[in-house]
Order: sequence, then C-alpha cells, then structure tokens
Amino acid sequence: MTDNPLSGALRIQAGACENFGSPFYGALLTLMAEDLDAGGPVKALLAPWADATLRRLFDEAVALRLPNAFNHLAQGGEDPALSAVWPREGVPLDVEAAWRAAKAAIPAHRAQLEAFMTHEPQTNEVRRTAGLLGGFLTVATETGLPLRSFEIGASAGLNQFWDRFRYEMGPVAWGDPASPVLIDAAWEGGPPPLGPVEVAERGACDRRPTDLNDPAQRRRLLACIWPDMFDRLVRSRRAIDLVLDAGVQVDAADALAWTTAGVAPKPGFATVLYHSVFWQYLPAKTQAGLAAAIEDIGARATAEGPFAWLSFEPAPDNMAVMEVRLTQWPGGAARTLAEAHPHGAWIRWLGEGAA
Ligand SMILES: C[S@@+](CC[C@H](N)C(=O)[O-])C[C@H]1O[C@@H](n2cnc3c(N)ncnc32)[C@H](O)[C@@H]1O
Repeated sequence: MTDNPLSGALRIQAGACENFGSPFYGALLTLMAEDLDAGGPVKALLAPWADATLRRLFDEAVALRLPNAFNHLAQGGEDPALSAVWPREGVPLDVEAAWRAAKAAIPAHRAQLEAFMTHEPQTNEVRRTAGLLGGFLTVATETGLPLRSFEIGASAGLNQFWDRFRYEMGPVAWGDPASPVLIDAAWEGGPPPLGPVEVAERGACDRRPTDLNDPAQRRRLLACIWPDMFDRLVRSRRAIDLVLDAGVQVDAADALAWTTAGVAPKPGFATVLYHSVFWQYLPAKTQAGLAAAIEDIGARATAEGPFAWLSFEPAPDNMAVMEVRLTQWPGGAARTLAEAHPHGAWIRWLGEGAA
C-alpha cells in the first residue's frame, strides 16, 4: 500500500465493490492498484488525475471510470480477446485472465478508453424502486388520491415507470405479474400499505440525462453496471425496453430550476417529488435552495391537493445504508419509512418509522 491518493482510491473502491456484490470489480481494482504502484499502464491511463486529492478522486468517481472503461470495451466487442474472458453468467470468474487481456488491449484501444474516462459515471439503478415503492404506496393509501409522480436527478429515467414493474419482496407482492421488470429485493419487517395506485401524471429531469434512444448512450449506461452483477444488467436492459416503449422523457434541467418552475400541488391529486442517490451531488447552495423550494411547495399544499417529498438517500451517519424518507404536506410531518441497501438489494421496513 502506498500513500498515493490514486492507489488509495482504487483500493477503497475495490473494498466497496466487493462489499456491494461485485467480487470481480473488487479483485480487478486491486490488480489495477498494484499495477499503478508498479508504474504499469494504469499510471498512464490515470495521468489526468496524477495530482488529484483523494477528495477530488471520489467526487469524480475516478476509481470507477477506469474499470468501467474496460467494461465498455469488453461489452462492445471491439476486442474479442477481452470479451472472451470478461464475466459471463454461468462461467467461473477469472480475474487474472481478464486483467491480462485488459492490459493487452490498451495499446490498440487507448483512445476509446481515455475518451470513456473523460465522462463521470452515469448510473441508473432500477432496484432502488424497491425502497421508493413503500413511499408511493403510503401516500396513495393515506390520501386516497391518484398520484402525480415527479423525479429529480432521474438519469435515464428508468425509474419513471416504477408503477409498471412487478415487485416480489417477501410480504410485498405488488404490480403487474406480467411485467418484464421484476424487482425482487429481500424484505425485513412488515409490508407497507398494499393497494392499487393510479399515476395520473409523471415527469422527470436530470442535469445531464442519458438519452436511451441513442445506442451509444445506452451502451455507456450499461457499461457502468458492475459486470458480474448479472441480475442488475438483465433488470436494466428490460427496464430500458419498458420505458422506451412507455415513452420515457427526462427533461435536461437543473433540479432546482425545474422543481421551482414545474412542480406545484394540484387539487384532486397527491403530488410526489422523489429522488434517489442524488442529493449528495448537489452543491450546498443548491441543496439549501431545493429544500426551501420544497418547503414552499409544501406550504401551498391542501387536504384536497397534498404534496409529498420522497427520498432514497444515504443515512446521515452511514453512506453505506440508505434511508427512505417521506415528508407530507399539509403539515410537513417527516418520517423514515425504511433502511435499504444502496442498490435496493434489501429493504428494512420501519413502518411508521421515527421522525
Ligand atoms: C447517482 S445518479 C442517480 C440516478 C437515479 N436517481 C438512480 O437512483 O439511479 C445521480 C444523478 O443526479 C443527477 N444530478 C446531479 N446534480 C443534478 C442537478 N443539480 N440537477 C439535476 N440532476 C442532477 C446526475 O446527472 C445523475 O444522473
């Protein structure tokens, strides 16, 4: 272990990937860190960040850009030798062989790898709806109204049609049994109030939406999924097909401007503003502005036109556990409905929860 921040960032990311279900990325990132320490080709690929602090490396997710660049190359098929040893369902992982092939691919594909790494990773995790669902159900049941569903920081918009997925989570069986998108998280605790939900209107924005109609952007999105997490890949591919068919639309807009301009309570409907793993990317000033804008929308809510703020975001004291929080107006009562795995693999339902 060196005190080089780049090497440290790769090793910390290796541990996180291992913990969150990708032994392949865990081991690959460790080999990459060793290569960097030995002055191998990783050093040249990461040269743009040679002087970066650990803070900057995390903010820019550099330790994910690197393996994702090889994942992008392997999934695209431009280097058959790399694709042949990359993770495949049912085939034992061979990380050493994958890293040998990845290193061998660098000279011929350097430009593609470097171009990929100029962008921050853009992910969209479908199974986070496992945590959000309980919030939507709570609002629908408690208000008895059709929902208006508005998402900020929606990425590609894969979670915009959360009500068209099938949920099979212990005591929670909800949604269309014929849906091609199955959300099958492990569930602890009692169920949320299960009942029918009508989504009367929906909208979404992202500062930099992924356009699913563009094959290159679709490929980029899938390359950000850790390649030995096959269930995530399958779910994402199916969700892409579903939302494209349903007419997904994500406005390219800053969340604060979009919310202020377009989200307001409407009598006869429960308006829900929601987000997942988004808040941490906002500068403090935008966080404060958005919180104030949300309070302002809440102040305009009535019993006939209630408003809810639903979030799936890291717990204040533990970034590795998410909290599903719901604040409802009129009144502004806030509660924590659940704790969750960052990708939604498990949900711990707290029911009424603590404020
Ligand atoms: C980690 S992704 C999460 C995407 C999605 N919510 C999910 O859970 O899969 C964070 C998203 O927030 C978006 N974002 C960051 N700052 C934003 C802002 N000020 N306004 C709108 N979107 C923003 C990013 O572009 C990115 O798509």
